[in-house]
Amino acid sequence: MEDNIYSRDYVKNLFNQMSSSYEQMNYITSFGFSIRWRNQFLESIRKTDEAVEVIDLLTGMGEDWQAIKKRLPNSKLTALDFSDGMLKYAKQKCKHRFGNAITILQQDILENNLPSNYFDNVVCAFGLKTFNTEQLSILAQETKRILKTGGRFAFVEVSTPENSILKLLYGFYLGRIIPILGWMFLGNPEEYRMLWVYTSKFVNARNAAAVFTKTGLKTNFVSYFYGCASGVCGEKV
Ligand SMILES: C[S@@+](CC[C@H](N)C(=O)[O-])C[C@H]1O[C@@H](n2cnc3c(N)ncnc32)[C@H](O)[C@@H]1O
Repeated sequence: MEDNIYSRDYVKNLFNQMSSSYEQMNYITSFGFSIRWRNQFLESIRKTDEAVEVIDLLTGMGEDWQAIKKRLPNSKLTALDFSDGMLKYAKQKCKHRFGNAITILQQDILENNLPSNYFDNVVCAFGLKTFNTEQLSILAQETKRILKTGGRFAFVEVSTPENSILKLLYGFYLGRIIPILGWMFLGNPEEYRMLWVYTSKFVNARNAAAVFTKTGLKTNFVSYFYGCASGVCGEKV
């Protein structure tokens, strides 16, 4: 179980199962926080009107596209994910809300064929927790490989706060309330319970920050709302 939850097939299947309800659950459960964090983590990416090349890794259903386009209105956006279920909805969103102007790739980021030294920005929201340290190291190496020199990256993830009272409340909410909401509204509590299992093992992005730094990327650790989310951002120097 311990190793298995990080296997490609397990994670892919989990998100395929959740895809029919993921977007609604995001709205129901976030109290607006995930929307706020999606905008906040992009603040480390230089705002520009230029036609920069951006890739949204682990794009899901394209939940981050609006925030990316707000900050980088003329960016050429590529979106990558390996889940057919999530991408089915991403493709619909691309067609109906983004004029088919986003390049969607179905690939595993850990075994991708993206070009080297190509992207000005690599961004990713809520995708770190389903990687173990070894996989995080490949993710960091791939981020470095596909970024241009001087290019910037930003990742954000739900985390467990350091304050013990907040940790207890947040753990109760993510581990107990969300699976019940998942069951009440959508009929699948187990998949949503797993998100808490990943979050409690992930803790926060400090380990990711160490791994990204080791790869040679100039990296900063960032904490949001008392540590309820955290991330890494920085630059390929
Ligand atoms: C929690 S969702 C996040 C979706 C979206 N970025 C958001 O902000 O809500 C994580 C996504 O990562 C994808 N994913 C996980 N591991 C992956 C991998 N190795 N390669 C490509 N996609 C992966 C899953 O299919 C899922 O859609």
